[in-house]
Amino acid sequence: MKKIENATLSKKNVGEVVELYGWVAKKRNLGGLLFIDLRDRSGIIQLVIRPEDECYKIAETVRNEYVLKVTGKVLERESKNDKLATGEIEVQVNTFTILNTSLELPFEISEDTTALEDTRLKYRYLDLRRTRLQEIMKLRHKITIATRNFLDSEGFLEIETPILCKSTPEGARDYLVPSRVNDGKFYALPQSPQIFKQLLMVGGMEKYFQIAKCFRDEDLRADRQPEFTQIDLEMSFIEENDVMDLGERLVASIFRSVKGIEIPLPLRRMKYVDAIDLYGSDKPDLRFGMPIEEISSIFANTEISFLKSVLEEKGIINGLVAKNCANEYSRKEIDKLTEYVKTYRAGGLAYLKLEEEMTGSIAKLLSEEEKEQLISTLKLEKNDMVFIISGKKEVVKTSLGALRLKLGRDLNLIDKSKYELLWVVDFPSFEYSEEEKRYVACHHPFTSPKDEDVEKLISDPGNCYSKAYDIVINGYEAGGGSIRIHNQDVQNTMFEALGLQEEEIEEKFGFFVNALKYGTPPHGGIAFGLDRLTMLLAETENIRDVIAFPKTASASCLMSEAPNQVSEKQLEELHISLRK
Ligand code: AMO
Repeated sequence: MKKIENATLSKKNVGEVVELYGWVAKKRNLGGLLFIDLRDRSGIIQLVIRPEDECYKIAETVRNEYVLKVTGKVLERESKNDKLATGEIEVQVNTFTILNTSLELPFEISEDTTALEDTRLKYRYLDLRRTRLQEIMKLRHKITIATRNFLDSEGFLEIETPILCKSTPEGARDYLVPSRVNDGKFYALPQSPQIFKQLLMVGGMEKYFQIAKCFRDEDLRADRQPEFTQIDLEMSFIEENDVMDLGERLVASIFRSVKGIEIPLPLRRMKYVDAIDLYGSDKPDLRFGMPIEEISSIFANTEISFLKSVLEEKGIINGLVAKNCANEYSRKEIDKLTEYVKTYRAGGLAYLKLEEEMTGSIAKLLSEEEKEQLISTLKLEKNDMVFIISGKKEVVKTSLGALRLKLGRDLNLIDKSKYELLWVVDFPSFEYSEEEKRYVACHHPFTSPKDEDVEKLISDPGNCYSKAYDIVINGYEAGGGSIRIHNQDVQNTMFEALGLQEEEIEEKFGFFVNALKYGTPPHGGIAFGLDRLTMLLAETENIRDVIAFPKTASASCLMSEAPNQVSEKQLEELHISLRK
């Protein structure tokens, strides 16, 4: 007999005899009548057992999370519960079987649980019984089904690539796996299927996709896990616009089929340099305005000494206008914001308030002309506030970008019901690593430079831009990709620009560079963060909510206690001795 989904029963089933399975969510005894909320994946249905029923005695013994099989008749309820899908009916039990018992629970399985996340992670299989997590797992499933349907209809082939790999160059640390049969050698777990998907293009597959597990040993954040999943794809004989067009139609089809939301296409595009200038971030949250304002020129003749020296040292002065909130910021609040921007290396935070007259930390030092220019350039009205940071461009943009997000949240400027999607395009090819004292790839070393910048790869790397694009949703980097280099000479020049020595290139990517010599088609692709897309659609800011068995911030699993120590014998087989 096919198991009924309990929550699909309704008034139209009244009079039917049904067989139900599920867990005891709650048991109540009201004036002798026994009520049990029976929960399965679809929801809850109320069972009722009368004192005269044969099964009453056994039903009385059940506790929360016991597993039941019952048969009974669907009846219309006298007192209805409009909070429950099945709130108009109940099942009067006829036969009652306890299929399994349960220990006393470490925490109550309820939506408003106050149990610590660590406890819930230790007993993740119990936490998964909560409606919220069940809904999220269903949502994640729908996203992968929508992805497969869409990409299949577009002619993509789903192809798996290896998990035991050679190191790939996404820039994080690798997870390594020792090889037993190759003494002293290691596999790396893939940080992404990047090299393999490009080799699939060399292999003539033309359109590939995969729901791919990726592994990166990097510092974890609220939107990062050491193992995560990408919707990874690659296409041949295409240009930037083709991948962005395909990518945005995929995302729109996911939003449509999972949430019934229509995303207007084409998505807007913003150059990387504009995103940094206006929002101090390469993943701007456009659900609210408050762009960064360039006000350096207003201070060209300033008497304020710290601003004067910033300008002399080719720094910049930028501001943020917070509308109509000057009265909300006390000195204490502003001190807190100052501490906040200092964590982004800002030297300090100046502020102005437009009250009866202009007040604030630098107001007394401003000339009348500067005040007037600030009011007209920034279109200031009464009770507006201006936050100002000066210094090196990079620091000013980053710290004001972070302050903008904080003010957006604190002042409730973010419309949470909205999804704002955009492409950030034309990324620099390289960024300078102070730590390594050399240029490193912004995306990865296979990203094609803009045609006009190929010549500059060695001579002027700081001014090279690439055919790379990120899709940004509500301030999250939801995906990123690029057109790849398909010419081995350009690829070699790129490696050279990155300071890789010939032996290193040969050792790390020799097989790949060699493959490029055999008729590689022009190709490019993108990878979406499946976990991040699920977070956005599930409206949670915690990536652990969207992964069935997630890891903690220290990359461990509280349930299985991975990672763990292994036996001497295992180590010996792997030719490994641990450092003391
Ligand atoms: P990238 O490194 O930008 O590109 O990754 C693509 C997308 O994967 C998601 N993501 C993560 N999600 C959760 N936890 C993490 N630790 C994590 N790291 C990345 C992000 C990101 O946008 N091979 C290239 C893609 C390509 O060029 O086609 C790549 O991996 O949403």
